Amino acid sequence: MFKFTAKALACALSLGIAGMAQAADPIVIKFSHVVAEHTPKGQGALFFKKLVEERLPGQVKVEVYPNSSLFGDGKEMEALLLGDVQLIAPSLAKFEQYTKQVQIFDLPFLFDDLKAVDRFQQSPEGQKLLTSMEDKNITGLGYWHNGMKQLSANKALREPKDARGLKFRVQASAVLEEQFKAVRANPRKMSFAEVYQGLQTGVVNGAENPWSNIYSQKMYEVQPYITESNHGLLDYMLITNTQFWDGLPADVRSELEQILVETTAEVNKLANELNESDKQRIIDAKTSEIIQLTPEQRGMWRDAMKPVWKMFEDDIGADLIKAAEASNKQ
Ligand code: SIN
Repeated sequence: MFKFTAKALACALSLGIAGMAQAADPIVIKFSHVVAEHTPKGQGALFFKKLVEERLPGQVKVEVYPNSSLFGDGKEMEALLLGDVQLIAPSLAKFEQYTKQVQIFDLPFLFDDLKAVDRFQQSPEGQKLLTSMEDKNITGLGYWHNGMKQLSANKALREPKDARGLKFRVQASAVLEEQFKAVRANPRKMSFAEVYQGLQTGVVNGAENPWSNIYSQKMYEVQPYITESNHGLLDYMLITNTQFWDGLPADVRSELEQILVETTAEVNKLANELNESDKQRIIDAKTSEIIQLTPEQRGMWRDAMKPVWKMFEDDIGADLIKAAEASNKQ
């Protein structure tokens, strides 16, 4: 009788343990972001989810929350630190509270094009920035492109003097505030989710965005003029909570890292195509006049905005700025 009971107990226990292992909950990665799905970041989040579901089925589950549906600007970083989300990809303009050096990406007219941006991001200096916030429990996993920013407004912007007195929405970035002050415009910090309404109601008169954000947020409907200025960059740093990431089982973490390498390559390939096709959609909508600057006019914007570099040189580091500038020349 005793023998039977012990055997039955052992059997029940082993079944129980096996059952528990089978029923172990998958690791959940919540990926929250503020843009639409049909954008470089939106597509990147979905591509990541797809690869994880194919390669780590039952082990890791990815939930994607687009359009500030879970957390908006200002809250998503806090949520990451509290462990309420595990992946976010804020614009590089939104890191100044955590590291002053990442402000480099906001300096106007620093990068000639996305190829130069790529070279800098992949350089030892650019890669070092990914780990510059680990003391704050933030690990950078890679850079994702969106693209170069264009100016939009309720009046035609051809020369810096045209921006004088206009209210421009800016991201939470001191560099971007100074950039608009440099042309005697009035910057106003505003979260991304509020921009369309801000432009529609006249709380702000203008903004700066890549084509994909102008299109997906329908800003072209409320901005009769868009100047193809390519004056600055809007890219992202994909980040996670360091404690969460380091606490993952090593094999899972290494597969996720490989998936992220592939996702980053996909996003960065797609970003240019998406911006070009969204630019064409905006042209086709015929709601905004698209203004092309002459080389002289672009030079005027550059001359007016470039003094901002000097204002942030101590925070960012003159050597880092030099390294970024050098990425234009290769
Ligand atoms: C984003 O692309 O994530 C939003 C950037 C912004 O706030 O302008």
